[in-house]
Amino acid sequence: MRLINGKTRLYCLIGDPVQHSLSPIIHNAAFEKLNINAVYLAFNVSKGNLKKAVDGLRSLNVAGFNVTMPHKVSILSLLDRIDSLAEKIGAVNTVKNVDGKLVGYNTDGIGALEALKRNGVKLKGKKVAIVGAGGAGKAIAFALAQQLEKFGGEITIFNRTVEKAVWLEKSLTETFDVKVKGLKLSDLNLKNELKNVDILINATSVGMYPSTGKTPVSKNLIKPNMVVFDVIYEPLKTRLLTEAEKRGAKIVRGVDMLVYQAAKAFEIWIKKKPPIKEMFKAALRTLKSSKEL
Ligand code: ATR
Repeated sequence: MRLINGKTRLYCLIGDPVQHSLSPIIHNAAFEKLNINAVYLAFNVSKGNLKKAVDGLRSLNVAGFNVTMPHKVSILSLLDRIDSLAEKIGAVNTVKNVDGKLVGYNTDGIGALEALKRNGVKLKGKKVAIVGAGGAGKAIAFALAQQLEKFGGEITIFNRTVEKAVWLEKSLTETFDVKVKGLKLSDLNLKNELKNVDILINATSVGMYPSTGKTPVSKNLIKPNMVVFDVIYEPLKTRLLTEAEKRGAKIVRGVDMLVYQAAKAFEIWIKKKPPIKEMFKAALRTLKSSKEL
């Protein structure tokens, strides 16, 4: 048990709701492992209270915080500086207090790329399909485009609301020298486009607990040589991942992205190598102990 004393630094999460977030579990496990005199708490902050909450965090000289729904976009105007990738994405999930100035970052997309990398997936020259153009889809698409600009490759984005996919195509091609296509999420478009795809990423909420019987992509479109990555971490293995595995595809689980986005935030705050193993153990212990998984 860590000792809390007058020098203990506070890190926290602000969002609504936050009660079921795994961030406190993951970060406190990391603090404990590295013997860092810090605690991580979750605060429920409603939409109308965001400015007051951020003013309060400033006044209390909180060391850093994570931001989740519904504040990831509205937080931008309340910060002093925004990292260039977070600015391009237009969303912040991590804030660091640097000598009283609040600096915003987005670790969701880099967390996803790290999850792919740690699972042995190479991005160079790859054709990637992202299903979903909401917060998670956008963050992944920007981080990916930044990488593929260096390495070569292509991105196709599918979204139920086609306008968001088209906006993302425009925005990415204006920002990065990379080939991007934005399409409506439909069986026909998936059938036509997934033929040569190397990496398929689900960034929608389709298949998330409790709707575990659903999948965004039917199993006959999945090829054995594909990598299939689902950002959903509850259940640990979604229907999409179960079916992909049966088809012989390599799978990457959402819990990996969850842990690596936290690890990136930890690195930004603490400037130390995050104890990944402990962070995984803490997340998996909690996810496995929750029912129906
Ligand atoms: P997050 O931050 O988790 O990405 P979000 O911004 O609300 O959450 O985005 C949810 C994503 O899941 C969106 O791409 C959404 O599609 P729309 O933009 O059309 O709303 C997608 N989504 C949610 N339910 C869906 C469904 N039943 N079928 C297809 N896509 C769905």
